[in-house]
Amino acid sequence: MLDGKEIQELIITALEQRKNAYAPYSDFRVGAALLTDSGKVYTGCNIENSAYTPTNCAERTAFFKAVSEGARGFRAICITGGPGKKEPEEFCPPCGVCRQVMLEFCSPDFEIILAINGERYQVYTLDELAPMGFRL
Ligand code: THU
Repeated sequence: MLDGKEIQELIITALEQRKNAYAPYSDFRVGAALLTDSGKVYTGCNIENSAYTPTNCAERTAFFKAVSEGARGFRAICITGGPGKKEPEEFCPPCGVCRQVMLEFCSPDFEIILAINGERYQVYTLDELAPMGFRL
């Protein structure tokens, strides 16, 4: 389980990363901060495309950066997202494709922090957000 300080650090990083979102089509900006077993944090933002389907979610950007650099064990991810550049008003749960990517690399107790700001956040396990997930 992450402690309060670890959670706050991930929230600050995800909020900061959200500023890098490339979302000219939806204007829905998402930031993510992914914590590895070794304590390293990989960031991600959503990256849209005029052909739409190449769009990559913030969570997958963070995972693919991490995995491509050799990281394999993960403790938690913080996700924050919403329309425009203002502070989000609602939680931004991960899409089904991102949940499947989490299932590939994370154990059922992997923590998913949905954050609006440092005071308003919710913590779930992967097992709660992706029950009965497909694994080989
Ligand atoms: N998006 C994310 O980055 N993560 C999510 O969990 C949900 C959706 C992005 C994809 C797209 O750029 C925009 O939000 C609207 O769907």
